[in-house]
Amino acid sequence: MPYAHITGWGMAVPNRILTNAELESMVATNDEWIVARTGIRERRIVRAGETSSTLAVEAAWKALGCANLKPNELDLIICSTSTPEHIFPATACLVQDKLGANKAGAFDLLAACTGFIYALNMGAQAIRSGSIKSVLVIGTETLSRFVNWQDRNTCILFGDGAGAFVLQANQEFGGILASVLHSDGSGGDLLSVPAGGSKHPASEATIRSGMHFIHMDGREVFRFATRVMAQATREVIGAAGLQIQDIRWIIPHQANLRIIEAAARGLKVPLEKFIINIERYGNTSTASIPIAICEAVADGRLKAGDKIVLTAFGAGLTWGALAAQWSGPLPVVRKLRPAFYRILARLRSLMRRLRLRLEGWIWGRDKA
Ligand SMILES: CC(C)(COP(=O)(O)OP(=O)(O)OC[C@H]1O[C@@H](n2cnc3c(N)ncnc32)[C@H](O)[C@@H]1OP(=O)(O)O)[C@@H](O)C(=O)NCCC(=O)NCCS
Repeated sequence: MPYAHITGWGMAVPNRILTNAELESMVATNDEWIVARTGIRERRIVRAGETSSTLAVEAAWKALGCANLKPNELDLIICSTSTPEHIFPATACLVQDKLGANKAGAFDLLAACTGFIYALNMGAQAIRSGSIKSVLVIGTETLSRFVNWQDRNTCILFGDGAGAFVLQANQEFGGILASVLHSDGSGGDLLSVPAGGSKHPASEATIRSGMHFIHMDGREVFRFATRVMAQATREVIGAAGLQIQDIRWIIPHQANLRIIEAAARGLKVPLEKFIINIERYGNTSTASIPIAICEAVADGRLKAGDKIVLTAFGAGLTWGALAAQWSGPLPVVRKLRPAFYRILARLRSLMRRLRLRLEGWIWGRDKA
């Protein structure tokens, strides 16, 4: 049975930085309160033209470059997001087209901030089954488009960004070792975007009442998070047949520094075992774990052979954890040039669009 190794990774965040000081001029808050209660100092926010798929594609090109994998060698694209570009088509399909990954299946997965763990699990299981060889797993969010910038309970927390991993089949031990996934829909109303779906389709009334924004019961979510993060971490370490002392790094969902501190206390491990970058990005939901991992690899903290645990919680409610052995990229056989494939993908997409239009026109003319 092949293992699913993480052979490529990449991240993308918007250039625009929104600081706590700027938020002070938007809502009744202050830098001191935000830092003390959340650990966040600044977050990245998309500009016009930047979307969940543009961030995803940027991260994906980096991951493919790192893995030296051509887009048309991908078998599957799983895009985890709570802020898709549309209800449909799936953001994963937009990414598939922009990459020119013409042999890949593509779908979106929604498990909120736990989504990247769910998506990695699904991708790894598909590889372990032997049915496919390579998967692109993406976590991408543009939460700033769903935040009510007059609601100080939520607008200070969230940021935008994306992270992508390439998973590849490999007979050697390593990669994704175990995962645990949980949910409890009875807490669905604690964190939601109530309107815009089939229950409350967008209307003048839903917009007037702000139902298209993120609604959150912060205290209840906080209580839930502090309970489940350590619990899921312990569970997955057991499922992988490991002990906590075997784990080099824990990479938590970056929602609130106090929640991460509570998890460290619950696990009786020092906070230094956790990779934390919440101060610079805020809560980027499903993208927060891959972004933290990309930074830890870039600065040399995370090394080949390290055993790691990813742990997250989020809307749904969902929570889960995943244990992995970091493998690093496979030996380079040939260097991939993402810029070349980017141009190729654009041309192919254009050709496909033209062909569809032409076929439609011929069909219409024949019918007439
Ligand atoms: C949202 C959160 C930071 C609030 O922190 P908290 O310590 O629980 O704060 P509380 O909600 O108890 O509010 C304390 C006070 O600060 C006030 N307050 C809330 N937001 C504020 C802000 N941005 N600036 C200043 N004061 C604020 C409240 O109104 C309240 O005032 P009151 O006591 O006069 O009523 C915290 O509950 C949290 O992080 N929850 C989890 C959210 C989360 O992770 N969501 C994403 C899940 S993936």
